[in-house]
Amino acid sequence: MQEKTSSRWCRLVLLPLCLAMASTYAATDPLAPTARWSAYTAGRASTPPMGWSSWNAFGTDIDEAKILGSAQRIVDSGLAAKGYRYVNIDDGWITRREIPSGRLVIRADRFPSSVTGGGSSFRPLTDKLHAMGLKAGIYSDLGRNTCSQAYSSDSSDLPKGSVLEREVGLYGHIDQDLALFFGDWGFDFIKVDGCGLRAYGADSPKVRSGEYRALAPVLDLESVTRSDIPAVQAEFTQIDAALKRHRPDGDFLLSLCVWGAADVRAWGKNYGNLSRTSDDIRPSWTRMLSNFDSAARRELYGHPGSWNDPDMLFIGAGDFDADHLVEAKSHFALWAMLNAPLMTGADLRKTPQPLMDIFGNADIIAVNQDPAGNQATLAYDTDDVQVLVKPLASGQKAVAIFNRGFAPFDVDLTAEQLKLRKDAPVTLTDLWTKADATFTNETKLRVAPRETRIFRVQGTRALAQGVYLSEQPGSVNPAVDGVTTPQADPTIFRSSGGWTGTKGAGERPMYAGWGGARADSTPYGQTLRIAGTTYAAGIGVLANSRLEVRNAGHRRLSAQVGVDDSARDATHGVTFMVYGDGKLLAKSKPLRRGQRAQALSADVAGVKVVELVARSAAKDNEQLPVSWGDAALLSSGQTD
Ligand code: GLA
Repeated sequence: MQEKTSSRWCRLVLLPLCLAMASTYAATDPLAPTARWSAYTAGRASTPPMGWSSWNAFGTDIDEAKILGSAQRIVDSGLAAKGYRYVNIDDGWITRREIPSGRLVIRADRFPSSVTGGGSSFRPLTDKLHAMGLKAGIYSDLGRNTCSQAYSSDSSDLPKGSVLEREVGLYGHIDQDLALFFGDWGFDFIKVDGCGLRAYGADSPKVRSGEYRALAPVLDLESVTRSDIPAVQAEFTQIDAALKRHRPDGDFLLSLCVWGAADVRAWGKNYGNLSRTSDDIRPSWTRMLSNFDSAARRELYGHPGSWNDPDMLFIGAGDFDADHLVEAKSHFALWAMLNAPLMTGADLRKTPQPLMDIFGNADIIAVNQDPAGNQATLAYDTDDVQVLVKPLASGQKAVAIFNRGFAPFDVDLTAEQLKLRKDAPVTLTDLWTKADATFTNETKLRVAPRETRIFRVQGTRALAQGVYLSEQPGSVNPAVDGVTTPQADPTIFRSSGGWTGTKGAGERPMYAGWGGARADSTPYGQTLRIAGTTYAAGIGVLANSRLEVRNAGHRRLSAQVGVDDSARDATHGVTFMVYGDGKLLAKSKPLRRGQRAQALSADVAGVKVVELVARSAAKDNEQLPVSWGDAALLSSGQTD
């Protein structure tokens, strides 16, 4: 009633003032509906990028022959035809920045074709890649200097010259460098690293010795509180704007590489097409686990246009070489299920055929490239075995059963875990062997140590008339996830043997994001439960949150809403609201912990963006997880 009266006043009397007030309200109130999808959609990343990068195989020891050799194998082997298109030059290509012009100069000894009429240009190389039907990627850094300049002990591949000439990063040169990369040189992809904003504090040895100028660190991988998140975001905003200026046709990819630091696992999706969720992968089993874990519970933070990036594939080396095909296949299948970019990091000129066959598994590529863009959710999650389920655009699903441990495991896979009817047949097609098997209700599958079995699944959906929101994570964006104090995620495997070996205390939990929104789970990994009733399907999120949901033609949004039983706060009420393209469609009464779920139902016919808001006067949202139980988009206008 009150809302009606005030909006009438607005229309009749005070329209300009009200419009101004409304926009201030929207600007200052993050829970106000926006009627738009706010995750990043610029660039060309409607499906996860595929290709090759020089870093894992070569580090900074790169040259034209190595890059073109791998590019040629991508084409000759048929991988290009299967979608591997980006050929990315990582760190190690720059010799200096020319002073005073500021123009970057390529290492001529390594890239002979870059010497053109007295100048330095990658255009001959990108022309060649483009003529091969491929795309070209380049590497830079947010700061004045790159990662190898900070961490390499051997300076032979590093930029040369005076301190200023060796400042080859984007800092202070964003527009100039992006004009060069995308305008002059014709690149299509840029990876932007963060070491320049991390490793060049006044007290770092290389700054103290006068080798590099100091730049106060704003990124700290070990601590969110020591990171200046807005400063990092501001850099990416400028890069995005420059990309749009210098690649106006929109044919670009922006890859953020701040390794899960500065809480980027929560906001990377708003600033670029890919965002690294962890520190660098290594060719070691346990390191692969760390990187996998850093993305595996972030299913709602990856979408078409904005993917989680657990780093490049390390298939071809160490624990993933041709003598470790079980591990190599697991690595590939897991990355496919996570919608990770499929960036091979091997020297493809020498990669044995069995590994090439892994990269070339068209069925698994299709799982990764599925247009619905749903990252797999964890239907079963333990330290031994995980079951990942990925709904596909066709209505079918993919399932991966991952044995992390050292013993064979007999895994019971149930129709229920797949959100399929248990009284109807379910057919599994093995994406490695192509064998079919049919079961009803449940089946037992033997999974060898470190093996990932991966299947396409055909069955009858448990929810006949629609889709649970947790079955379409690629269309749910936690625009505001309610987190007030970013906390390190304890569920990420902490591997040994990183940059510091086993000296010190070991890797502390360091990737913020714990408490973020989850599919079929509370933000802290519990079963969704409101006043004693559990929900196998739904979205768990903190209070004072706003979820954006894309609606592709469904007519009704329905959910059972309430404060989750796991909440510590039993005093504050939470009001749940459903908006359709900015208009309030349904609203609950204020609900406290222990109160029964309230059914919310809203007519969303014709609505493009549904927003789910949980609002409370509480300040400590971490104490107040809420559940959108059974949240679903239904095709009929009737409540199910
Ligand atoms: C960082 C990145 C790597 C690679 C190197 C280059 O460590 O995370 O992927 O680009 O820098 O120096």
